[in-house]
Amino acid sequence: MNVLVIGGGGREHALCWALAKSPDLGRLFCAPGNGGIARVATCIDLDFKDIDRVFALIRSEKIDFVVIGPEAPLVFGLADKLAEKGVKVFGPSAAAAQLEGSKGFTKDLCARHGIPTAAYGRFHDKDSALAYLKTRPVPIVVKADGLAAGKGVVIATTREEAEAAVEDCFAGRFGSAGSEIVIEECLVGEEASFFAIADGRHVVALGSAQDHKRAHDGDTGPNTGGMGAVAPSPLMTDAMVDEVMDRIIRPTVAAMAAEGMPFKGVLYAGLMLTASGPQLIEYNVRFGDPECQVLLARMKTDLLPVLTAAADGVLDTLDIDWDPRPAVTVVMATKGYPGTLEPGGEIHGIDAADALPDVTVFHAATRAAGDHFVPTGGRVLNVTALGATIAEARDKAYEAVGKIDWKGGFNRTDIALKAIAAAG
Ligand code: AMP
Ligand code: GLY
Repeated sequence: MNVLVIGGGGREHALCWALAKSPDLGRLFCAPGNGGIARVATCIDLDFKDIDRVFALIRSEKIDFVVIGPEAPLVFGLADKLAEKGVKVFGPSAAAAQLEGSKGFTKDLCARHGIPTAAYGRFHDKDSALAYLKTRPVPIVVKADGLAAGKGVVIATTREEAEAAVEDCFAGRFGSAGSEIVIEECLVGEEASFFAIADGRHVVALGSAQDHKRAHDGDTGPNTGGMGAVAPSPLMTDAMVDEVMDRIIRPTVAAMAAEGMPFKGVLYAGLMLTASGPQLIEYNVRFGDPECQVLLARMKTDLLPVLTAAADGVLDTLDIDWDPRPAVTVVMATKGYPGTLEPGGEIHGIDAADALPDVTVFHAATRAAGDHFVPTGGRVLNVTALGATIAEARDKAYEAVGKIDWKGGFNRTDIALKAIAAAG
């Protein structure tokens, strides 16, 4: 089977790395891919919005299956366009991708189907939002409805802050993403991420992960796409996993099917583990990045038949085997990330790091340049390791980081320490 992966980050490197191991794989393509992905796939410089070129590639390379990594092509409707033309695809339709694309959509779905989430109001104009705020206690959370690159959420500790956030949204700070807002109760607890794969009707758990959103040690500095991750999250007991599947994930998949938008793809739930049980903070409709890297490092089952089973609606016929060992990934980023990037310089030593036992270095933004690589973005490498314990996985990941010689990069030094403390 010839496969095309859409995307070019660390998540897509992990997807390509796992797919490349499949005995069922013919040729593997990735658009646009990156310097690391080029080692396992043919990278094609292609914009997913250029749909004629996407179809031309599918025809000329006899692609049998397309796997969509990032949210932008999903919300754009790439899965629908491919499916309309009879191309087998992994990833939700644009209608189902509203679970990530519109926070209000998800909140309303939860309300209609009794899925536990923070109490909320949904507003299209400033005056009714401000009036609602007056009736609610602080702290309170103000969210732009649409995709705002992870920046559209304000946890307001005072009423003034909450009002300013509402004003900002309707003044266009997040563009069209903020033309509608959700105001919701502030939940208290520890956060965890949970992943499941669905085929429209059936759903299989992929497990939990914990990320590290802030740029610097001690959870300081600006928010990022994620500076490291651990899987599974030691905060999530087996009983909690069952509860999340029974009360949040399965009801969501059933609700989407009942409402005519069957969800096929990866459902990524941001959870707050509150005193009264897990509550949904938000959904994403794809693998997390870098959470995908730690999840797939642990997957022993061949990924390709898992993804095609989801596309074909036969996930009920499938069991997924996991490596019992936890995984840790450390993100190496260009200095300046997530702000203005400094000149990245040369990266050496990736192969030496990757050669360590139980270590895989995924590339998130690199280009090969002779005997070395150069960074092409903010988050550049995801140094990933398995270990008997989280502490051992963390040690191996940092040993591998130590083999990478990159003056223009930085990484957090405390990835997984919170998880190790929680695991006791
Ligand atoms: P989101 O973009 O919805 O994932 O929100 C970003 C972050 O804001 C989450 O990871 C939480 O840390 C925090 N957050 C969002 N909604 C709430 C809420 N209702 N209560 C407490 N924290 C929240
Ligand atoms: N690491 C967070 C995300 O993929 O959204």
